[in-house]
Order: sequence, then structure tokens, then C-alpha cells
Amino acid sequence: MSTLDRRSFLRLTGASLAAGALPGALSAHSPSFAAAAAEDAIAISSGNGLQAVAIARRLVVEQNMRPVSAAVQGVAVVEADPNDLSVGYGGLPNELGVVQLDSGCMDGPTHNAGSVASIEDIKHPAQVAELVMDRTDHVNLVGPGARQFALDHGFPVENLLTDHARKIWLKWRAKRSDDDRLWPLGDTEPADPALADEPRPWGTIHCSVLAPNRDLGCCTTTSGLAFKIPGRIGDSPLIGCGLYCDNEVGSAGATGRGEAAILSGGSWLVVERMRAGDTPTEACLAALQRVAVQAKRSARWQPALWDGKRPNFGLTFYAVRKDGLYGAATMRGGGSFAVADAKGARKEKCAVAFPD
Ligand code: GLY
Repeated sequence: MSTLDRRSFLRLTGASLAAGALPGALSAHSPSFAAAAAEDAIAISSGNGLQAVAIARRLVVEQNMRPVSAAVQGVAVVEADPNDLSVGYGGLPNELGVVQLDSGCMDGPTHNAGSVASIEDIKHPAQVAELVMDRTDHVNLVGPGARQFALDHGFPVENLLTDHARKIWLKWRAKRSDDDRLWPLGDTEPADPALADEPRPWGTIHCSVLAPNRDLGCCTTTSGLAFKIPGRIGDSPLIGCGLYCDNEVGSAGATGRGEAAILSGGSWLVVERMRAGDTPTEACLAALQRVAVQAKRSARWQPALWDGKRPNFGLTFYAVRKDGLYGAATMRGGGSFAVADAKGARKEKCAVAFPD
């Protein structure tokens, strides 16, 4: 997996920084990176992205596509999938039954980013985020402004609420009561025990891509927390939270409880840990440990966030380092992530911060 050990990685990034190198310059200074070839290209994603990583890697290898665009094209297959209840078309709606999507992307070589949040009626928000990045000097567009921007660029208006998602939403709505404390607590403390069995996922897909020339890019896209308050924005469109990349170091992203990734600056933290010499898996685990410390503190106000020993919610970080090492770690339970490299596309197990 890895082409560089920890000391070599630190020496290379340190030398680059000492030389005041600009993003993207590392490969020019490194004999190891100069030897990079198509076999070294890697795409990683959350477990729902097996097809996405295969597409993304193929695009950077066969079409020389920049990695951020390859990530956006890779996740498009999940955005269009009516069976994924957490992303794009078929995603679970907000509490009013309206599907509102969040998406962000980041380009390593230019250190530029774009995002859209709470966008309605547009099936491929990641592609709109890419246009925000490429065609404006803004980073975030939200709500009606993001939708109008998409329409201006030719995206069709589409009904994103499938019958299946609508029925799940109706079932959830029928069970609500005056006592529900679901707003502040996400799915951590359903007031009605019957709701515990209802799907109310945070879902999401993140995809990070390392191109054969060692450039990096990433994308995260989601329908967000199911049955959210209209206008709630998660981590996925927030740079540094649900995604982040630095072309000299690596790329990272998150799925799960977006509020925790926001409050920790989680994806930025993962990249900074890699800059300091962590492997991707170590960096993801370190970020989860930080989130756990913060969650314990937050539990004074929101007790449902802490189960006595560990955070009472799901969160997973994914990371790929510039030298090709990759990994993922999840808060509790288990889970897998998708990776595509020269050996093909497959799922691998996430490291676990707080095993059962
Ligand atoms: N991680 C997706 C969200 O919380 O919206």
C-alpha cells in the first residue's frame, strides 16, 4: 500500500515546506513521486461507493481527468441511485417531505473548493458544487441561490422524492408527538421507542482521489440527516468538515453525524495529522478521539451524545495520503470503505475507535 515510510514522508513534506514550495510542487522535488505511475492512482470512498471508486480511478488513469472531477463523476452514480436513501435522488427528505441536498468538492492543485447546501430539485449537487468552484470566486451557495445557479447552468428540475422515501417519511411523521425530542438529538434519542427501528440515517458518500501524477481531489455529497429541520446544513458542503484536501499532504472526508464533523473541523484535522506524520488510519482514529473528547463535553448539554463510555453516534473518516497510503476509521461498531487501486475495486474494513 505505502510507498514511503513515516520518516521519508515527513522529510519530503518538511523539505517542501522549508523551500516554501507551492501546492503541487512536492512531486517535482521527490524522486519517489517522480516515479509515480498509473498503478499508483487510488480512489477511496464510503462503503456505498464501490462503483464510484472504480469510475473515479478509471477516469484519472484512462482519461487523465483531474481528481476532483473524477470524484464528482464517481459519486454521480450514487446521486442517481434511487435505492440509496442518503444521497441525491431517493434520499430521505426533511421534516416537510422535501429533499434538500448538500455537496462540496475540493481541488488539490489549486486549493480551490465549491459547495452547495440545502439545494432542491437538482439530482447532481456535486456537479453544481464543481461549477461553483470553477466559475465563481465563491465557495458556498445555499438554498434558492444554489438552485438558481444550477438552473442557469442548464441543470433540469427533477422530483427527487421517490415513492419509497416518501412512504418512510410518512411513517416517521405519523409517529411524531408533542414529546419528541428529535430536533436537537438526531437519531440518538428517539422519544418514541417505535422510532428506533425507523431508518433515519446520516448516510452520505465521500470520495477522495489520488491521480497518477499525485494530484489530489475530493467530493462529498448527501441528502443529509433524514427528516431534518428545513435548511439544516450538515458537514458535507463545509470545507474542512465533511471534506478537505491539501495537495502536499493528502485528502480526507467524513460520513455520519455531520454536527460532530463540523464541531471538530474533522476532515481538516485528519489532513493535518497526516501532515504531522500519521498514517491515514492513525489520522482518522486521532480525529475520532478528538470528537469523543468533545462529545463527552457536549453531553453535559445533550446527554444522548454519550453512552457512558463512548460517543453514542456514528462517524467515519476516510483518508488518502499523497504517497498512496490510505485508510478509514469509524467511531463504533464496524463498517467498511471502498477502495480502487491497481488491484481493482473492493471493500476493506474500517479501523474502529471504540470497539463493542
Ligand atoms: N454527514 C452528513 C450530514 O450530517 O448531513
